[in-house]
Amino acid sequence: MIRVAPSILSADFAALGADIRSISDAGGDWVHFDVMDGLFVPNISIGIPVLESVRKITDLFIDVHLMIVEPQNLAEVFCQKGADLVTVHYEAAEEENVLSAIKAIRACGKKVGISVKPATPAESIRSFIPLVDLVLVMTVEPGFGGQGFLYDMLEKISEVKEMINSLHPECLLEVDGGINPETAELVKSHGADTLVAGSYFFKAPDRKAAVAALKG
Ligand code: DX5
Ligand code: ZN
Repeated sequence: MIRVAPSILSADFAALGADIRSISDAGGDWVHFDVMDGLFVPNISIGIPVLESVRKITDLFIDVHLMIVEPQNLAEVFCQKGADLVTVHYEAAEEENVLSAIKAIRACGKKVGISVKPATPAESIRSFIPLVDLVLVMTVEPGFGGQGFLYDMLEKISEVKEMINSLHPECLLEVDGGINPETAELVKSHGADTLVAGSYFFKAPDRKAAVAALKG
């Protein structure tokens, strides 16, 4: 089963309620919620108060992507304020602190993911795979929507898929950045099952057709 997770980074924040409703109306599966702190990535986006508001208006699964340093400090709050799944970056802190974040998210009864930036080898996260519900492979440099897909990441997606198959077959494999119908086809054929789409979804004249095109 292929899941589509529209990223509200590309939504109209002055009309966020309507844009979130458009995700379920279009047959989207998850709300992808990008949190940026201006330190881990050179941009600032949305955080806890917005998550609380979004939680109140949707029953969709909220997929929080933390692009923040030292995620162990705030992971629990994101769980309490409405996340269904919280993904932390492998590069965001010392390994023991990334592990603390993962444990804290689990202790809240939420799903947990680990993400890798384009320059981080798949092998770096091997020991994390048994501990998480999802691996997120970034297919652009995190920080901004609307960038071009990095085709070099296809090999990494295959490598992660192989590790998942041998270590934790139930673990999901999500990709994020530059996803459109053409790149969706490629990432699916390399093993991805969960597709984040920001600009492609929100700029589409027909969002339902956009989801259908990504699912293929
Ligand atoms: C980038 C974010 C993405 C972004 C994707 O750092 O993590 O979720 O919204 O946007 P598109 O789909 O436009 O590349
Ligand atoms: Zn994201």
